[in-house]
Amino acid sequence: MSTSRPALTLPRGAEAARVLGVGSTQPDRVVTNDDLAARMDTSDEWIRDRVGIVERRFADSDEGVVDMAVTAGAKALADAGVAPADVDTVIVPSCTMPSPIPNAAAQVADRIGIAAAGAFDLNAACAGFCYGLGVASDLIRAGSATRVLVIGAEKLTDVVDHDDRSTAIIFADGAGAALVGPSREPGIGPVTWGSAGDLVDMIYMRDDRYLFQEGQSVFRWATTQIAPVALRAVELAGLALSDIDVLIPHQANLRIVEAIAKRLRAKGARDDLVVADDIRYSGNTSSASIPLALDHMRAAGTVRSGDVILAVGFGAGLSYAAQVLVCP
Ligand code: UT7
Repeated sequence: MSTSRPALTLPRGAEAARVLGVGSTQPDRVVTNDDLAARMDTSDEWIRDRVGIVERRFADSDEGVVDMAVTAGAKALADAGVAPADVDTVIVPSCTMPSPIPNAAAQVADRIGIAAAGAFDLNAACAGFCYGLGVASDLIRAGSATRVLVIGAEKLTDVVDHDDRSTAIIFADGAGAALVGPSREPGIGPVTWGSAGDLVDMIYMRDDRYLFQEGQSVFRWATTQIAPVALRAVELAGLALSDIDVLIPHQANLRIVEAIAKRLRAKGARDDLVVADDIRYSGNTSSASIPLALDHMRAAGTVRSGDVILAVGFGAGLSYAAQVLVCP
């Protein structure tokens, strides 16, 4: 038996990582608040006032999580000008795959043409995109991956009881993607993440596979506990809140988004901070909501290349994650 063991070789990673491109997709079918009010005891006025949603998109039965992820992922590659052959890893944050096996990521990689990709799904519910972005950045810095496609993709309409007004008015479908690659200048700050598993009963999937949430409890948690997480991400990146140009919280409820922005302004965020309100026309799309908002805001010109963005996701688990990123 040898007394000395051979030294292992470790790869050298990139100095830093950044987002190279983004893309998104939503189903064609628009569902208005009046459409929902025709089915259940709710109203356009109540939904706009209490949640901020004007309309959302529902996928039809022939469009699944994988289909939406493929479209969003391919758009992110095109946006970055990177060929599928130059991508080696696909991560799909999602909590609405019809079954845990097979995962979405391997199918998405195959359909986009990324051969033999490292491919895995990641379930941190509505915090999934920020978790995925953090993992992607660190894989690249560690030398375990070169270019990583992160795609938040959800078909929440599959797991919503369409007669339950506490969930049916909020959730919707869509996918948003970011291609992450090596960079000399850091374009993605350190992720801060955490969980509160003792509060698991606040949001869960029932035995019948429909979502249950204690809306008011989640609302209180999100409006009090999430701004400090966002602030920590800014500090970890070595920045001040006044350096942040754009805030993209998970689009859970516009009143939650505004409450987080208000707390951050009280701590030094600028009055002219641009705050995502994509929920108005997209609804709550869980892990897709942050990249969907980013892509829509870029297209609208409210976020520009080089802007410093603060992203923070939170939801079932309970779980949360945040980081600073530079807009490509
Ligand atoms: O994405 C991940 C995590 N999820 C979230 O972050 C969701 C967090 N929670 C929420 O966004 C909100 O709690 C909800 C949108 C789910 C509910 O809004 P709320 O302002 O907390 O409503 P509430 O449950 O306190 O109900 C207020 C009133 C009640 O009537 P009374 O008792 O005051 O007469 C409800 O019966 O509004 C009534 N109500 C509705 N009315 C019309 C509750 N839901 C509806 C509805 N339409 N859909």
